[in-house]
Amino acid sequence: MKLVDTFGRNHSYLRISITDACNFRCTYCTSGKSFPVTPRSQWMLPHEIQHLAETFIHLGIQKIRITGGEPLVRKDAAEIFNRLGDLPVELAITTNGVFLPKFLDQFEKIGLNKINVSLDSLDPLEFYRIVGVDDFQKVKSGIQEAVERGFEVKINAVPTQATAHKEIIDFALLTQKQNVEVRMIEMMPFSGNDWDRNQVLTKAEILDIIQQQYTIKSFPKLPEETADRFQIEGFEGKFGIISTVSDPFCSGCNRLRITADGKMKNCLFGKREDDLLGALRNGSDLKEIILNNVWAKHAQTGGQLLSSNMENRSMIAIGG
Ligand code: 5AD
Repeated sequence: MKLVDTFGRNHSYLRISITDACNFRCTYCTSGKSFPVTPRSQWMLPHEIQHLAETFIHLGIQKIRITGGEPLVRKDAAEIFNRLGDLPVELAITTNGVFLPKFLDQFEKIGLNKINVSLDSLDPLEFYRIVGVDDFQKVKSGIQEAVERGFEVKINAVPTQATAHKEIIDFALLTQKQNVEVRMIEMMPFSGNDWDRNQVLTKAEILDIIQQQYTIKSFPKLPEETADRFQIEGFEGKFGIISTVSDPFCSGCNRLRITADGKMKNCLFGKREDDLLGALRNGSDLKEIILNNVWAKHAQTGGQLLSSNMENRSMIAIGG
């Protein structure tokens, strides 16, 4: 089985949010405000997550990324990971890194090797300003431990026009001696994040800042990849830029998403949601709902990115 949409795109990558709770309040995500968390009774239970994952794997999904909110704050996260670890699928996770060390043994055991950690500044005070929590050292040491233990670690940062050029260079320098990939993501608009086009630091601007000091080479991009990837001459690691706003890359999109409350989305920016959890709980045919959802996917950015009446959830409630 394959999950092909009307534009011929094959979907092999599923992102499952396991909670919309988060211990951070990042400015680019919630504008620093707290956010109502979905009542737990509406979250998918571990066995339901497993059931949905199995259904998608039968339909051709080969990679599952676990997201949030912050996935590692969910009390039964370990049970969810064990259940997913038994399935024939590549596993990855996106986390803010605070609780990462507690989970590395389990990740090794279940073969989850790809870890994306959000780290939006290399300056502890600036980090605090952005995320609202004084956990810089914990995140840094979590990343360090994961790298030393051989996990494939990517660092996600959302620089904006407020980010000092020195910070961009410092992020690039992180890749000098360590085989990590730093990915700088253009700030995207979501409900509740007070987005403004003028805040976005674009791919062209980021490249310009780095190229003023360094010679870089670029790597070919696979159709399904989101980041343009580069390396500074002589450096161990790479850096990537995700240009969703200035240069969207939807033509090779292979992603589908499930929110923590069990709604399927075919695009980060799409408003269409199909209630998979409700269907699972009342015994309806999941396959038909999934195929219809994929079939309804727009050519680009949910058909509405940057439109003035864009309707969508907040990022925290979709899954990063
Ligand atoms: N724009 C760009 N990236 C975002 N993320 C969250 N919100 C946004 C946004 N508005 C990404 C960040 C974060 C991950 C969980 O999701 O990279 O690290």
